[in-house]
Amino acid sequence: MNILLTGGAGYIGSHTCVSLIESGHRAVVADNLSNSSAEAVKRVERITGQKVRFYKTDLRDTPAVEEIFKSESIGCVIHFAGLKSVAESVEKPLAYYENNLDATFSLCEAMRKFSVKNLVFSSSATVYGNPQNVPIKEDAPVAPFNPYGRTKLMIEQVLEDLHASDPSWNIVLLRYFNPVGAHPSGLIGEDPADIPNNLMPYISRVAIGRLDEVRVFGNDYPTPDATGVRDYIHVMDLAQGHVRALEKLSEKCGLFTCNLGTGRGYSVLEMISAFEKACGKKIPYRITERRPGDIAECWADPSLAQKELGWRAKYGIEDMCAHAWRWQSMNPEGYGKE
Ligand code: NAD
Ligand code: UD1
Repeated sequence: MNILLTGGAGYIGSHTCVSLIESGHRAVVADNLSNSSAEAVKRVERITGQKVRFYKTDLRDTPAVEEIFKSESIGCVIHFAGLKSVAESVEKPLAYYENNLDATFSLCEAMRKFSVKNLVFSSSATVYGNPQNVPIKEDAPVAPFNPYGRTKLMIEQVLEDLHASDPSWNIVLLRYFNPVGAHPSGLIGEDPADIPNNLMPYISRVAIGRLDEVRVFGNDYPTPDATGVRDYIHVMDLAQGHVRALEKLSEKCGLFTCNLGTGRGYSVLEMISAFEKACGKKIPYRITERRPGDIAECWADPSLAQKELGWRAKYGIEDMCAHAWRWQSMNPEGYGKE
């Protein structure tokens, strides 16, 4: 079966592409490369030894998306494409609502037209906002508090309405916790265009010498070492979660919402210390003010994924850091300029 990966040249999409191909699927990638490089797709081909059909397409261009459905026999879509920076979404909310929502409308319209009604959507733990309890279950209240998070929740709601209007759609909404790490080969990984916002790529760039020190955002949280705690999940575990989500679609699951996390949290200082072990260097850091909008702690209850998808995370924090470091040290400039 051909699987269309929108945003498949991006961080999570490229890793998922590898897992899908290794599970016997054929991958077709559509990406406008607004936050990625075509080199990532070439590297996926190198890792898997298989050809990946690549379309440089903006999903908002509905006729171009329809061309893909005309040319390729698509059975399922995994919809990764979207803008994902919280800070940028606060500065440019219209760009985020426009891109993330219009891309989804355009995609779903093309899918409806070509009777492809199997969809996996990249949602985020950000939809839970500031959780009342941890670990977080899927039925916890949702209340995102930035434009990026609101686009994720809105898309979830659009897809719920779509399923309600036509129950022959099968839709899996995957709420990712904090994806980190890289493919163990070191050939693909996370390559933020600007100075990273997220902790792990920031630590990696300090380790490689492209940034001076990590700023630890706040050490007055009600957590064991007073720094923020998150559920970091290896991107290859996340990729495998998508393979299982496709199997769920084939069971005609209807609408299914599921967390993808490990169920355990690590603090900022624990992450720095684990990375130091992985790279064999000291990571300089400095405690600064809290980052506005940050929460103290957040980790998943992953039991639904285990029960319904037969999936659980296998990699630990050592592999997350070792693989992130391998990617960073083999590719100090990421994929490089095209
Ligand atoms: P990414 O930026 O690396 O990948 C997203 C891809 O979508 C990029 O390659 C970009 O070029 C493409 N894209 C954006 N708008 C497009 C459009 N209109 N048409 C075609 N392509 C478009 O991000 P990622 O980390 O791989 O995230 C993938 C998905 O998972 C996103 O939807 C993101 O919101 C979601 N998510 C990511 C995280 C995370 O921490 N990385 C956490 C939770 C959810
Ligand atoms: C952030 C987003 C979230 C998004 C997720 C994945 C915010 C407020 N939240 O989550 O919506 O789904 O990324 O893309 O931006 N930290 C530092 N120094 C740094 C960077 C981070 O101390 O330079 C700390 C943070 O305070 C936090 C932890 O590290 O405690 C993880 O931060 P980050 O990687 O940005 O992820 P989230 O904040 O969980």
